[in-house]
Amino acid sequence: MPNRISIDNRLPADHFTRTLRADVAEGLTAQPKTLPPKWFYDAHGSVLFDRITRLPEYYPTRAEKMVLRAHADDIARLTGARTLVELGSGSSEKTRLLIDALSAGGTLKLYAPLDVSESALEEAAESLCRDYPDLRVEATVADFETDLPLPDAAPRLVAFLGSTIGNFDTDQRVAFLTRMRTILTREGDALLLGVDLVKDPKTLIRAYDDDQGVTAAFNKNLLRVLNRELGADFDPGAFDHRAVWNAEAERMEMRLRARVTHTVKIPALDLTVEFTRGEDLRTEISVKFREESLTEDLTASGFTQSHWWTDPQSRFALTLATPA
Ligand code: SAH
Ligand code: TRP
Repeated sequence: MPNRISIDNRLPADHFTRTLRADVAEGLTAQPKTLPPKWFYDAHGSVLFDRITRLPEYYPTRAEKMVLRAHADDIARLTGARTLVELGSGSSEKTRLLIDALSAGGTLKLYAPLDVSESALEEAAESLCRDYPDLRVEATVADFETDLPLPDAAPRLVAFLGSTIGNFDTDQRVAFLTRMRTILTREGDALLLGVDLVKDPKTLIRAYDDDQGVTAAFNKNLLRVLNRELGADFDPGAFDHRAVWNAEAERMEMRLRARVTHTVKIPALDLTVEFTRGEDLRTEISVKFREESLTEDLTASGFTQSHWWTDPQSRFALTLATPA
């Protein structure tokens, strides 16, 4: 590995056993049954997600890229960031537009991606180092729900793209933004959020239920993670992938619906879980946003929203915010 890359694994050694166990024990004994989305992203899940971003139905990645392309120079000029931090960076593919603009602006010294997926970070860091010979990459393997380390070199721009913030519910979102606010303490620090916007349900449902079945495979990969890590005996074939628009909460919900009544054993938890035919296990929510409500959340969390940019079709927005 080139010496301009470092990868710091901050996940506790027992993260994949202890935390996963607690999450699964809680989620699968709840009514309705749920599982938290961070467990999608093992090495295989990260590869599947990368394929999702290139599906014709999955417009968010392309729409966000359009906004980034149109406004990366504005973002570079407005922030003058020396450090670009990215949460849930995945392949860091779109981030290249920001790195280009901040490099052209002459301020960027360090890119600091953070993700739970070590494999995704390794690949992204190596590929970026090849293409940006002057860039230092300090990657961190961590769970951003419990650990948010920031490099010292300010001003820092924290990017949280891909509408990953939509995977939190309202309370979690405001708590997360509030915590973010408390660590953005240096002069000039800023937050760049990418959010998917409310639109017609047909477009939304197609984005989460593609014709090739990649999203279905991604959703069911969660069951394979549980089989591997906890010795569970989920049969992915016993579930159907479902993408449901919850109009009241204005969010997409990814679910796995049991095709038949059956039981699943999870030896590591000493747990037997009963699924009745047609019962849904909710694996993810993806909240869709409106400008007014997001501005409210940012204000409630101690931020001032300074800019709001969308693609020409208003499918996706980027918002720049600074500590109030
Ligand atoms: N930013 C990329 C990837 C979005 S997918 C894009 O816009 O295309 C969500 C990413 O967040 C994945 O790479 C996943 O591994 C990561 N992620 C999900 N939950 C996380 C958590 N709790 N802590 C850290 N990373 C997480
Ligand atoms: N953050 C992405 C989103 O909400 C993650 C995602 C895309 C996803 N497709 C998915 C998560 C399908 C679970 C299932 O758009």
